[in-house]
Amino acid sequence: MTSALTVGLAGVGRIGTFHAETLKHLPGVDTVIVADADAQRAHAAAGKLGVQAITDIDALLAAPLDGLVIATATDSHPELITRAVDAGIPVFCEKPVAADIQGTLSVVNHIQNSTVPVQIGFQRRFDAGYRAARDAIASGNLGWLHTLRATTLDPTPPPAEYIPRSGGLFRDCGVHDFDIIRWVTGREVVEVYATGANRGEQFFADAGDVDTAAVLLRLDDGALATVSLGRYNGAGYDVRLEALGSRGNAIVGLDDRSPLTSVEPDYAPSPYPAYPGFMERFRRAYTDELAAFLSVLTGELTNPCTPADALEAFYIAEACELSRHEHRPVALTEVRH
Ligand SMILES: NC(=O)c1ccc[n+]([C@@H]2O[C@H](COP(=O)([O-])OP(=O)(O)OC[C@H]3O[C@@H](n4cnc5c(N)ncnc54)[C@H](O)[C@@H]3O)[C@@H](O)[C@H]2O)c1
Repeated sequence: MTSALTVGLAGVGRIGTFHAETLKHLPGVDTVIVADADAQRAHAAAGKLGVQAITDIDALLAAPLDGLVIATATDSHPELITRAVDAGIPVFCEKPVAADIQGTLSVVNHIQNSTVPVQIGFQRRFDAGYRAARDAIASGNLGWLHTLRATTLDPTPPPAEYIPRSGGLFRDCGVHDFDIIRWVTGREVVEVYATGANRGEQFFADAGDVDTAAVLLRLDDGALATVSLGRYNGAGYDVRLEALGSRGNAIVGLDDRSPLTSVEPDYAPSPYPAYPGFMERFRRAYTDELAAFLSVLTGELTNPCTPADALEAFYIAEACELSRHEHRPVALTEVRH
């Protein structure tokens, strides 16, 4: 690993602040420089984190960076990715690549002939449990998969102002499950049926979004997957994947901190608290993901999650939105460009 790297970070909101803290402690990183559309926020965050702040994004892109981490609002990702790549700066960008398919395609097309890497932030690919499930499936020990059950349930919703710019529950949240189902199984999704509900606060409906959803996916080998999504899971942050095969199964996210309350009489409840959110549940995965980015930018590692990968997960999210609006199964061929 090359040492003394200078890494820029755009956007010091929820995940950006967390990534800046992680970057600061990664071996090989010498300097972290942050910028935000809100300059005051950038300076406040830099002061708290003990990193440098720079006036604005233009100044950040003009700085001598070895890599750029983009953690701004989703609608700003395409412009920032393409500007950084054009400047020759390797990019790590939080998912999703863009708020819509056109934006995602424009990035994929823009960078396709470039040698500058762009890694997308699907941190579950770095989680020990998902990696073990992938290995178990690849080993053949589970037999053939008949069913996958994926769950992403947040205990409380993100701030109301985040929702209109989030892209909706499928693109913002379900996209993690869609990506990991493809990655863990090595299969493609061919058809979806999705439905949603508004059970919580009004701002979801006002944004044309739902706070609860159920998705049924058909994979290209005939296996079926369900994805359960929600923003109001009072018991805690519940992210799991159950891969059920003809000979065995692999369950991700089932441990002492799973927010599951058994009501069986002989069951002894765990004394450990549920994970409150994604930062605690995936802390190690986020660290390994950014460490991987440092190896990608120095050329020591092949990009583990490309914009083309992200596009595939995004097509599934897009098909889910169409299915929810039209109340019908949607083939992936209907949304794929
Ligand atoms: N991988 C994950 O688990 C995960 C988790 C949370 C968020 N995310 C993604 O990270 C991104 C940020 O989410 P968040 O929850 O931190 O949002 P946030 O609203 O808390 O923070 C976004 C920050 O970006 C800044 N910003 C917005 N547009 C900008 C621009 N054009 N230039 C510079 N700064 C700009 C805002 O001022 C704000 O400080 C989203 O794309 C989201 O999908 C990923």
